[in-house]
Amino acid sequence: MSLKAENVFKPGAFPEYTYVSRNYDASTGISYEMRLKQALRTAGCLTSIIGPSKMGKTILCEQVIGLENIVEISGADFSEGTDFWATIAAKVGIPYMGEVTTERSSTEGESTEKDSKNEKYVLSKDKIIEYCKKHEKVLVIDDFHYASMDMQMKMAQQLKDAIRRELKVVVVSLPHRADDAIRRNADLSGRLSLINLETWKEEDLKKIALKGFHALNIEIGAELAEKLAVECLTSPQLMQYICLSICTLLEDENSQKVTEELLQKAYRFTTMNLNYTDVMMTMVKGPNPRGQKRKHYKTKNGKELDLYGLIVESLAKNPPLTEITFEEFYKRILELLDSSDVREKPDRQTVRSHLHNLQTILEGKEEIYKAIEWKDGIIYVLDPLFLFYLRWGRFNE
Ligand SMILES: Nc1ncnc2c1ncn2[C@@H]1O[C@H](COP(=O)(O)OP(=O)(O)O)[C@@H](O)[C@H]1O
Ligand SMILES: [Mg+2]
Repeated sequence: MSLKAENVFKPGAFPEYTYVSRNYDASTGISYEMRLKQALRTAGCLTSIIGPSKMGKTILCEQVIGLENIVEISGADFSEGTDFWATIAAKVGIPYMGEVTTERSSTEGESTEKDSKNEKYVLSKDKIIEYCKKHEKVLVIDDFHYASMDMQMKMAQQLKDAIRRELKVVVVSLPHRADDAIRRNADLSGRLSLINLETWKEEDLKKIALKGFHALNIEIGAELAEKLAVECLTSPQLMQYICLSICTLLEDENSQKVTEELLQKAYRFTTMNLNYTDVMMTMVKGPNPRGQKRKHYKTKNGKELDLYGLIVESLAKNPPLTEITFEEFYKRILELLDSSDVREKPDRQTVRSHLHNLQTILEGKEEIYKAIEWKDGIIYVLDPLFLFYLRWGRFNE
């Protein structure tokens, strides 16, 4: 039976046929999988994985731990007032309160309600740890940053005790946000295995395409695979998306060979799934002008844009980068401008202050708006899919 493209390229799930193992350390050839395996074997230690969004943190855990043994819980499952162990018991699938109450009432009938509640809690926690150890379950608390700071501290407290009793726990979080409760927690120091997931390199991204197309008997030249890898901007998920688009287009054309023209078509096709219109519009509009008229500039392609519009346009320029220094960015802006326009060009300080304003607007909004960040003189693209959308979205035509 021949494979289906949707089973090979899986942007939102475990990619069985296109899983690529990456080196954690190129000089020794030690992979991320080996690092995690080793961390899990280290008794009494908590494993902390951090890495940017969509870089394969969850997939790494699933690959190493296996679907049989993994108990995945999201930080979002722990809202304020949630009982930590009750939530875990529910995920593991073992009864919590009920069972223990019976035990209690048969032995110590006269204990006060408060005591018995406390005791119930301790007993259950023991049971859960015991059960997990016996069945080789590994607790993965994914997207830990979704829990409130207060809840994170409470969880860390519970985990400290649990890992001492050799419960295997992995905590997964975004960079910068895992530090306080886990990595900077004095109680956990010396009891942590740290794994930092880096963004993907082109050569590894290329492997996803080559592996998948090979499995599907589709021909793609090395050069085109490389171009694809550049366009994916460090995102394995974007690679999976684009490759799946390519397959759909090929099926429509009844072809088994990827061409340059098809790539471009696939990029545009892929952006149709991405919804960043609001994010883009928020950036293009900038702060409320409060009745004041903004300066406009004429671009080489005949548009009249204010500085916020120019900033968004320069982000989308070639080559796609996830980190742009200010000087490089400023150069991009000047390059966009029509040289015959006699109006004054924006100076560096003005561009900086506009970037600062944008940063302030985005910071105050929901997670999806945090697609770029202006910090320490560098523009970081935090969400590769957003940049891809800017580059290939329909409004560019
Ligand atoms: N090792 C890998 N090999 C191939 N594709 C991967 C790999 N890791 C991640 N991906 C792709 O990226 C997607 C997002 O990965 P995920 O683990 O959910 O990211 P994170 O948990 O870091 O946000 C996956 O659904 C998969 O399509
Ligand atoms: Mg994840």
